[in-house]
Amino acid sequence: IEDLAGIHTTLPFPAGVAIDSRETSGKAAELLTRHFDQITAENHMKPDAWYDDARTFRPHPQAVELMDFAAENGLDVYGHVLVWHSQTPDWFFEDADGAPLTDSAADQEILRERMRTHIFDIAEWMAADYGEFGADNPVTAWDVVNEVVSDGGTDDGLRRSEWYRILGEEFIDLSFRYADEAFNETYAAEGADRPVTLFINDYNTEQGGKQDRYLALVERLVEREVPIDGVGHQFHVSLAMPVAALEAAIVRFEHLPLVQAVTELDVTVGTPVTQANLIEQGYYFRDAFRVFREHADALFCATVWGLTDGRSWRADNGAPLVFDDAYQAKPAYHGIVDGD
Ligand code: XIL
Repeated sequence: IEDLAGIHTTLPFPAGVAIDSRETSGKAAELLTRHFDQITAENHMKPDAWYDDARTFRPHPQAVELMDFAAENGLDVYGHVLVWHSQTPDWFFEDADGAPLTDSAADQEILRERMRTHIFDIAEWMAADYGEFGADNPVTAWDVVNEVVSDGGTDDGLRRSEWYRILGEEFIDLSFRYADEAFNETYAAEGADRPVTLFINDYNTEQGGKQDRYLALVERLVEREVPIDGVGHQFHVSLAMPVAALEAAIVRFEHLPLVQAVTELDVTVGTPVTQANLIEQGYYFRDAFRVFREHADALFCATVWGLTDGRSWRADNGAPLVFDDAYQAKPAYHGIVDGD
């Protein structure tokens, strides 16, 4: 761990990593703080994490651990995620009697209010326990909405989620407007704007049709003056995805008055994992981070979706990350750093 250059010292933008509380102590924490300067909660800031069984808002104990770890170690926190179709309590979409909300005006109002309260509760807790946003609060960004674009076949290019079924496209605008309001209000400095960058985030944005639908939506949001600041690319890819496709995805959004982020990078090598594949993966990370460096002006951060291979949600598809389970740097690490 000691002998290697920290990844973040070689990058012109923050180096992020998704974790849970297992990475906040011991060797994992040592490795993490050496190489990264930003964390994302892999699961514990998702909509369902904030509620106990009685549906009462309370920060998940692991979210608290992550926030404390960040505050103690001078790490930034990239919030993930305020509004999503997945990992969200079912009761969000039910009325007080447990009946599914419809798109009636009354039911829409219930869901709008629920969304607003959810977002404000999160912002208020973070400001109350960790200081004003922008002062010492570690949170610098949030994925406001996640995966709202469809994988195909809908006339407006949007996913048919519960949010969409009840509120229509408006739910996306509202998510950003409430987040903008919430972070502005919890940031006490008079007249200052929230220093929390608000992102939309999605997967397969390096692929044609999805990218077209994503761009069309983001252009509509900008046109409607929705307070969106950034476009996130998850980039869950494999060695078969040309790095040029990642670059093309970034280029496609560069004309907009927005920043971009690589939010969830992992690169599977397939199974069985071979030394040759890991070396190829090293070159992949080298080329990808060369592209990210070349587009540094557009990039808010680049985040890998996990610290060590065995902890990856895509571990079964073959060693997608930068460090192995013995906390050793893989060729992928050297690729990132050598690309400098
Ligand atoms: C994944 C986590 O990594 C898993 O641990 C969990 O079981 C499911 O969610 N897109 C996202 C992330 O935005 O939140 C997902 O994270 C991966 C895909």
